[in-house]
Amino acid sequence: MDYEGFPVLEADEVAGLIPDGAMVAFSGFTPAGAAKAVPEALARRARQDHSAGLPYALRVLTGASTGRSLDETLAQAEAIRWRAPYQSSRTLRDQINRGDVDFVDMHLSDVPQFTLFGFFGKIDFAVIEASEITADGRVYLTNSIGASPAFLHSAEHVIIELNRGQSRRIAEMSDIVIPKTPPYRPAIDLDHPLQRIGKPYARVDPDKVIGIVETNEPDEATAFTEANDVNKAIARHVAEFFAAEIACGRIPREFLPIQSGVGNVANAVLEAIGEHPDLPDFTMYTEVLQSSAFELMLQGRLKGASTCALVLSPKQMQQLDEQHDFFSSRLVLRPQDISNNPAAVRQLGIISMNTALEVDIFAHVNSTHVCGKRIMNGIGGSGDFTRNAYTSIFMCPSVAKGGSISAIVPMCTHIDHSEHSVQVIVTEQGLADLRGLAPKQRALKIIERCAHPDYRDYLYRYLCDSGASHIQHDLTRCFKLHQNFLQYGSMLHEDGPASEIDRIFSASF
Ligand code: COA
Repeated sequence: MDYEGFPVLEADEVAGLIPDGAMVAFSGFTPAGAAKAVPEALARRARQDHSAGLPYALRVLTGASTGRSLDETLAQAEAIRWRAPYQSSRTLRDQINRGDVDFVDMHLSDVPQFTLFGFFGKIDFAVIEASEITADGRVYLTNSIGASPAFLHSAEHVIIELNRGQSRRIAEMSDIVIPKTPPYRPAIDLDHPLQRIGKPYARVDPDKVIGIVETNEPDEATAFTEANDVNKAIARHVAEFFAAEIACGRIPREFLPIQSGVGNVANAVLEAIGEHPDLPDFTMYTEVLQSSAFELMLQGRLKGASTCALVLSPKQMQQLDEQHDFFSSRLVLRPQDISNNPAAVRQLGIISMNTALEVDIFAHVNSTHVCGKRIMNGIGGSGDFTRNAYTSIFMCPSVAKGGSISAIVPMCTHIDHSEHSVQVIVTEQGLADLRGLAPKQRALKIIERCAHPDYRDYLYRYLCDSGASHIQHDLTRCFKLHQNFLQYGSMLHEDGPASEIDRIFSASF
């Protein structure tokens, strides 16, 4: 049997063709549009080979994180040897942190260029979910574009997962372009987030397509939980900040396009922007469009969005299909080197909003590594947007794990975003606008506005006790809170900050 001249294969047949050690590039930018059937079959093959005493593990490349069938299933089968550029799977995270899997944590906008110019080495196979492929090699992608156009271009062999359950009309929102190569690469021709500059399909050389695997599976997006009080407080501070910035003319009256990270805080912030009476209808230039943005679009508050992926509930996916004409004029799906393009971010004046694990008192941000060692997910697109943003914002609860961890620390144990790129910090305690402030003033403001009251005194004392210098640090104590956490399970251990404070208070300074 064939489809448009391509052989139709079973997923297990495809798995049999992919050898141990192969570099496989899968579609997927979050669970949206991620390959599903072939990775499940590869996990089955890995288990069989392992029980026969044979090695089987792959080098796995994707656009970003993926769905359960891909990272989680392959990791559980111990079928991943190397992984880039991002992940959010619990099992894979543990394997990376044990040193069993090599993980390359990188800016997502760089993935297509790394692929096209061979920085990752040879791409042996690309497994790409599509809603349609034509005999002449046009590939219509599904709910994300990610790095699939580059994977289709660069891979030696291509397998298409033809997903009958995905709407073919999503492709009408796709705007796919592979930028010309340097030094002849012109500026990105975008004057507006919704401008289209490409084609609704990606291209593949039909001779490279070794088969089609037919599937009928929805994306494996996990549901978001209701915003809690902490997230609502963070969201309120952000919305009020925007209203004040517009009122005093630092943000134009018509607002600027917004980038919003993923997760519950981001959802809460978008809801708060939507509800704020003084904020105008707005646009987004972002990498993931999630459920709260979708609802704001239905209400008319969100006028339109450029994104790389649609991460929506099954009900919202159905609405998208039923009200296709409404959404297709308001949504543009782009490859990740365009959706996250740092030049476009500067050009369009994007306001970036991302989540931090921890922030230090001088405004360095750690988004990725707990205690500087254990990776959580990865930097994702946060760096693509932050560095060139018109205004860059980082948000997080002031404490984690029931208060045993302070998100505001003397010195970050790992730095993803430096003081030079970070402009505004927000926790449920308040908002610190750091623009134009020297390090000491930044520190005082972050402690006063953002730190949890339980840690505020310790942080003030740390600053005061560290002596005069441009950035006031005491290298013997800057990681004391982290050491307490590692040793006692709490930064607030009684041998830690409390007695430190007593010692400092009793000293004359
Ligand atoms: N130390 C240790 N653990 C911490 C911590 C800290 N300073 N801060 C948060 N955590 C833990 C939380 O307790 C929680 O753990 P759990 O899953 O065991 O409950 C976990 O980290 C997630 O924190 P949460 O408060 O639920 O926030 P989140 O789901 O929004 O995730 C990041 C926060 C930073 C992990 C996440 O936003 C991320 O990976 N960011 C980097 C990539 C990015 O910015 N992508 C978007 C770009 S467009």
